[in-house]
Amino acid sequence: MKVRASAPSNIALIKYMGKVASSGNKPTNPSISYTLDHLITQVELEKIDGSEDRWEPLKEQGFGDIELSEKGRAKFLTHFALLKKEMNGHGSWLIRSANNFPSDCGLASSASSFAALTRAAAAAFKPGFDEKTLSKLSRKGSGSSCRSFFTPWAVWEDEGARAADVPYSGLLHAAVIVHAGVKEVSSSDAHVRVATSPKFEGRPERAEQRLRELVSAMRESDWASSYKLIKAEFEDMHQLFESSAEPFRYRNKKSQAVVDACQHIWNFKNDGPWVTMDAGPNVHLLYRPDQLELAEKMVKHFRDSHVVMTSWSGLK
Ligand code: PMV
Repeated sequence: MKVRASAPSNIALIKYMGKVASSGNKPTNPSISYTLDHLITQVELEKIDGSEDRWEPLKEQGFGDIELSEKGRAKFLTHFALLKKEMNGHGSWLIRSANNFPSDCGLASSASSFAALTRAAAAAFKPGFDEKTLSKLSRKGSGSSCRSFFTPWAVWEDEGARAADVPYSGLLHAAVIVHAGVKEVSSSDAHVRVATSPKFEGRPERAEQRLRELVSAMRESDWASSYKLIKAEFEDMHQLFESSAEPFRYRNKKSQAVVDACQHIWNFKNDGPWVTMDAGPNVHLLYRPDQLELAEKMVKHFRDSHVVMTSWSGLK
């Protein structure tokens, strides 16, 4: 028996960073994300003989080979064990997965991987489970994955994510890949380490306030104020990393140059893309559909020095 499922990644504009201790991924603050329907993980489950579940890369056209670290593999298999328990699943399974984008470098591959695994398990064991229940289960494997069940916008507070009612849709997404190598500090470790930063004091309140302001700015179609809030938010998260007891850094000179180039466009035109960074060195840009021409120009410029993945014309 074989089943397949896929799920998209998402990019948070107000970030989930910091967990309530021993809570099974309960966040210290609410977050909001845009679903990246073009960045996908595909999971296939095959029933096998034997006494344990295994993972291997899925060979799929258009999908790169992923190699999960020992830790990554263990985390994936542990989540599958939990899903089997919750869904009354039995037997041993071979889990195959692949992403159509680079993994572990701040493009939120854990969100799409855990959401796809959760959907695949439901396809095998509990086809009737609704997306809300799946989102809750997926959260236990990777917090940010709970938002991938709703599109185009998801908000996640406490235990559950839901679709968010904000007006922007059909946004153009570009990821400027300044470094595609696997990051040295995983997001799981980052969640723990940020709590040791003196700047973590007041962080949940700051993030919550920013989320409220961002949602109202979006509802008023105030793209420029949204840009400022989104930028302040990712900078806040990166400052937590850089000021934790054992400081670590994802941003580098190249990331900063991309962020600065975007700010330059904003200064010049009083318009530009939304800019954010996840737990990695790469830079995410979001454009309104009417900014296609600007998006094309900027992507062409960034492609002089970097790989840029776009939702409208793929990886180059
Ligand atoms: O789901 P995790 O544990 O991989 O956390 C990732 C959190 C960030 O991607 C850094 C931010 C977010 O809200 O997605």
